[in-house]
Amino acid sequence: MTEATGYPDLDALRARLGQIAELDADGVERERVAVLGRKQGALTALFKTLPSLSPEERGPFGAALNRVKAEFEAALDARTAALAAGAAQAGERIDLTMPGRERWLGAEHPVTKVTREIVDIFRSLGFAVATGPEAETEWLNFFALNFPPNHPALDLHDTLYLDVGDRPAGDDDPEREHGRILLRTHTSPVQIRVMQAGPPPYRVVIPGMVYRADPFDPSHAPAFAQIEALAVDEGIGMVDLKATLTAFAHRFFSPTTPVRFRPSYFPFTEPSAELDVECQICHGSGCPACKQTGWMEILGCGMVHPKVLENAGVDSEKYSGWAFGMGPARVAMNRYQLPDIRLLYGGDMRLLSRLGGEAS
Ligand code: PHE
Repeated sequence: MTEATGYPDLDALRARLGQIAELDADGVERERVAVLGRKQGALTALFKTLPSLSPEERGPFGAALNRVKAEFEAALDARTAALAAGAAQAGERIDLTMPGRERWLGAEHPVTKVTREIVDIFRSLGFAVATGPEAETEWLNFFALNFPPNHPALDLHDTLYLDVGDRPAGDDDPEREHGRILLRTHTSPVQIRVMQAGPPPYRVVIPGMVYRADPFDPSHAPAFAQIEALAVDEGIGMVDLKATLTAFAHRFFSPTTPVRFRPSYFPFTEPSAELDVECQICHGSGCPACKQTGWMEILGCGMVHPKVLENAGVDSEKYSGWAFGMGPARVAMNRYQLPDIRLLYGGDMRLLSRLGGEAS
């Protein structure tokens, strides 16, 4: 505090400054009104006397008033801050029984987790991971895989083409002979890419996104994940396919999970099959998720068609192999008992945090 002002009224007022440090929160407010209040404030009253003073008196007295005003403001603010700090320290205003703020816990997406587990199992069986582009040529997505040119999968209704129009005359784009560019409809074109990159043997597992012109419904999505695998060597037969896939299913689900192979058709495998495992929801007794069959289809597979080997530059007299393509979303839906594939899209935190414990 500075020395006396020389004005008795002001000095009397300043005597109150010393008590401010003892006041409680209500006392601080009362003192603020009593000294600085617009209507009743003691200091305000002294300000109001200024116009009645002579110009010579007015200047010094006004300056003294302003200094004292600043002193009160500083003292009152300091006490308010000290009270708040003290209250926080003493825990007076903190309700320790109040629940804490919940934080969102990150978790691996169910499809990502299932994909990682599946890829890990194949890695432990000696498979390497390979990937390919999502924008693919018509040649690699279809024709190298032995699809006939009139196959319905090529239809605009099923395949999302990135450039539908004819290429301009005289176009010397090196991709020209490879047909139109499309969003790959399966991961199978990566089989060809792997085989073109070097000589056999091949043992690869290929995770990736694929696209089809399907509308969203409970069991379809226009963009979904696949995991492909390809094994090519001398003397590989159907028994290798069945043994590997059975071993995989027993590792991924359980050592006693029943599996079955059903005959099927794909242009790029011959013979072809579908692998079913016992429904993980009803364990075989039949439920809506497995349409009362007790089985769930998890992948398509087969022996690589000799024409596909030849299209990729592999001698089909010397080498043979098998391939499969699997939908990890299907597997995740069965494992986590999800009734609708759309739950896996859009990042709904309620689903992801419900699975968080398991999926992390
Ligand atoms: N590419 C097939 C599909 O998308 C799956 C498959 C892959 C089938 C490899 C056989 C061999 O449905």
